[in-house]
Amino acid sequence: MEHLPIMLNEVLDALSIKSDGIYVDGTFGRGGHSRAILNQLTTGHLVVFDQDERAIETAQKLSLEYPNKMTIIQSNFEHLNEKLDEYNIKGIDGILLDLGVSSPQFDDPSRGFSYRFDTRLDMRMNLNQSLDAYQVVNQYPFEKLMYIFQVYGEEKFAKQIARKIEKQREIKPIETSFELVDIIRSAYPSKVLKQKGHPAKQVFQAIRIEVNQELEVLKSVLDQAVNRLNPDGRLVILTFHSLEDRIVKQFFNKLTTIDVPSKIPLQVLPTTEFELVNRKVITSKEEELESNPRAHSAKLRAIRKR
Ligand SMILES: C[S@@+](CC[C@H](N)C(=O)[O-])C[C@H]1O[C@@H](n2cnc3c(N)ncnc32)[C@H](O)[C@@H]1O
Repeated sequence: MEHLPIMLNEVLDALSIKSDGIYVDGTFGRGGHSRAILNQLTTGHLVVFDQDERAIETAQKLSLEYPNKMTIIQSNFEHLNEKLDEYNIKGIDGILLDLGVSSPQFDDPSRGFSYRFDTRLDMRMNLNQSLDAYQVVNQYPFEKLMYIFQVYGEEKFAKQIARKIEKQREIKPIETSFELVDIIRSAYPSKVLKQKGHPAKQVFQAIRIEVNQELEVLKSVLDQAVNRLNPDGRLVILTFHSLEDRIVKQFFNKLTTIDVPSKIPLQVLPTTEFELVNRKVITSKEEELESNPRAHSAKLRAIRKR
């Protein structure tokens, strides 16, 4: 499936693009959001990051349509500061993070992200990294697997699934996505299996988060991103599950609230350096939900430096 940029208008509104501004798209993907940002720039510039070489190839093609307007960086966005320093880029007017995997990554059978295809266990966004789903499934101790399934997958049968994996890999390594799906199925009570959607959904999500260290890299980029913002600069983040959203929400709340001792008179109330762009989290409109299944779990939050 082609990757449709999620909440494109809402993202552009939240970024409030200045035509001469410097922007960062930390998750280029197939460039849906990037292209729309580029279309609003005159003398401005867009720096794009992606850790996936296929995404970088697409970025290189796009840059031919926008000569001298793009800098392309193949890296994890957790290295934001270091990379921007390397390219001598200082203040930023807007940063977008559209987290998770893209539809082309998900739909490419060779990448192993989807339980719909039978393929070697992989799930790496960055094909140069060593940790992959095969190692997680075959080498992690029982307790760690159970924790990942429970916390990252919110999987009710985490313990039973981890136990089955432990048993199975004593006989022979678990090599493919379908082998893993069968093991997950066998750990479920048959009554629950009949009521549920695909039984492997949560475990696959959990393994993907672990392989790509998605929560750790998100936590590590947040401070770097806000410290780079120019006055009126925006950090805009699209999340796709509750764990990511909680991290972003708590970080934004911390930056936009002050504990004021009750004795301080109202007229001298200090203001925070940052403010929320929207009081409430933004979700996709009905129209988008109908045309793009990925939009269902999407949440948009944004802050602005005063
Ligand atoms: C949801 S897609 C972005 C789609 C994009 N906004 C578009 O309109 O095409 C996420 C992309 O970000 C990349 N990505 C995810 N986490 C990353 C990280 N920590 N560092 C760099 N790239 C990352 C993935 O490889 C994927 O290509």
